[in-house]
Amino acid sequence: MSKKLTIGLFGYGVVGTGLYDVLHKSKTVDATIKKIVVKHKDKPRNISSEHFHYDKNEILQDEEINLVVELIDDADAAFEIVKTALEKGKAVVSANKKMIAEHFEELYELQKKHQVPFLYEAAVCGSIPIIRNLEEYYNNDFLQSIQGIVNGSTNYILTKTFQDNLSYEEALKEAQEKGYAESNPILDTGGFDARSKLQILLTHSFGITTKPEEVFNVGIQNLGDLEIKYAKEKNLQIKLLAYAQKRNEEEVIALVIPKFVKSTDTFSTVSDVFNGVKVQTAFADKQFFYGRGAGSLPTASAVLSDISAIAYDYRYEYKKIANSENLKLAQDFPLKVLFRHKAKDSQNFENYFEEIEEFYGNREDAYFVGSIRFQQLKDVFTKHQDEVSFVLIDIL
Ligand SMILES: NC(=O)c1ccc[n+]([C@@H]2O[C@H](COP(=O)([O-])OP(=O)(O)OC[C@H]3O[C@@H](n4cnc5c(N)ncnc54)[C@H](OP(=O)(O)O)[C@@H]3O)[C@@H](O)[C@H]2O)c1
Repeated sequence: MSKKLTIGLFGYGVVGTGLYDVLHKSKTVDATIKKIVVKHKDKPRNISSEHFHYDKNEILQDEEINLVVELIDDADAAFEIVKTALEKGKAVVSANKKMIAEHFEELYELQKKHQVPFLYEAAVCGSIPIIRNLEEYYNNDFLQSIQGIVNGSTNYILTKTFQDNLSYEEALKEAQEKGYAESNPILDTGGFDARSKLQILLTHSFGITTKPEEVFNVGIQNLGDLEIKYAKEKNLQIKLLAYAQKRNEEEVIALVIPKFVKSTDTFSTVSDVFNGVKVQTAFADKQFFYGRGAGSLPTASAVLSDISAIAYDYRYEYKKIANSENLKLAQDFPLKVLFRHKAKDSQNFENYFEEIEEFYGNREDAYFVGSIRFQQLKDVFTKHQDEVSFVLIDIL
């Protein structure tokens, strides 16, 4: 039998308003929103002001509320809210990938200690039910890799660059005008949002827990004309991928990086703000999840699904964490990449590469296509990140 849920909702923005809508349309979930806590008193709202409160304790100290739904845009404040809620034995649903990625270990311990569920399907790929599938379905040794287009705004920018021939700057401006990218877009374009999502995917696919700085991310913010032209001439696209692949029984390769994809690759069909996740297993081969990675109602539908799961006492068991003590992030493996840099610096960069198959240069810029070891790639990127760009061709 499902449990009756009395919800305290934090946040009434894009996702919060969507949740209010979908919850009222759902006939099967026995849950009511008792209170909503937001930040700004004078903001116009589309429902009566009596629903709103401005002090987090209105929800956290309310004994009747047994489920906290955290949908705010401030990761630090969200962590304080979620932590207190779990300590008080309240179930929690959240969509806050940054908060989860930054504080996973503490959140994991809190769940164990207080024996309360904490679900966050909407935090990775909005409406796509990937976490619960990884947790429940791919619960075996045969998962080999998971790759995803997990950030809608960068995918929008790349789609506009490739399909509509906009420059990177024009595409970014359009994404900002449509509300797909923030005024300071670096969290998205720098691959940081994708990194948070990859951290969560790593936990649910391979049982590996990480701190943000342990997962390497290259974004799309430095992509230039040379690599875009290179891709177009070869009928390729560039997609920002979150990438996790088992290298052997002890190591998992994990990184966020732009990658060339062929027109025959399923990822090339993931356009605009859509997301896609490809799972590869030993016996089932490839499987593909596709859907809206953001937006009010699509994201709220994943939050609603978590609420419904909590009503049936579902919780993540994190079985893979216990089974993966010997599994670590791989630190040394070769990758084939296109590496664009200033033409005057070509000689300095040659030594980073194991092999250079192709070289092109004009007066300003140059690129190598060749193989480089992961540590060298990290090193060159860390030292020169404003002047260079990498696009992955393949992991070797
Ligand atoms: N938007 C999406 O499509 C999407 C998709 C997946 C995941 N998410 C995640 O979902 C969460 C919410 O995103 P959103 O797009 O709905 O954000 P949003 O539209 O900016 O709304 C944020 C809400 O949080 C409230 N808020 C901020 N700080 C607060 C605090 N300290 N205490 C109480 N309320 C506070 C704001 O109050 P006021 O209304 O008073 O300003 C607002 O209602 C974020 O973690 C985001 O990463 C969003």
